Amino acid sequence: MDGERICRALIRLEAESVNFDKLIKEAIRLVYESSPQFHWAGIYELFPDKVLRLGPFWGAATEHVLIQVGQGVCGSAVAEKRNKVIPDVAKEPNYLACSTATKSELVVLIQKCGKIFAQIDIDSHNLSAFDERTVEEVQKVADWLANAYEARARQTKIRK
Ligand code: SME
Repeated sequence: MDGERICRALIRLEAESVNFDKLIKEAIRLVYESSPQFHWAGIYELFPDKVLRLGPFWGAATEHVLIQVGQGVCGSAVAEKRNKVIPDVAKEPNYLACSTATKSELVVLIQKCGKIFAQIDIDSHNLSAFDERTVEEVQKVADWLANAYEARARQTKIRK
């Protein structure tokens, strides 16, 4: 997994004036395809009602389209304002199962200056699929996306 390569691809798309929805869809596709260990990858967006809503994703459909802050690995990442690396989901008490094939999970927050916009959620069918290096690379994409979310929020305000 090479986060910088993904960021470079996103910068190119941005230069072609690709719209925000297409940009984040492409970002999560590139993440999903970046490692044979990633079997599901999606973006959950945080809404003011403290609910995470599933945005673009790659992999099997999930019933967890809405997740309350504090609920599951995704919701607790937001509640605790930190990334989550779960090497074995069977040992995680606060875990919402999307697929019985999932063995490990990574959640990286898309945030800037303490404001959480969304998160990248990745599932693997392998145990301990997410080492420190992988988390660092996913973080690069999440940080790039945080700037894109912030710019969109600014644009929306200007238009109002
Ligand atoms: N496992 C997550 C739910 C989302 S699915 O993995 C797609 C959780 O515990 O929050």
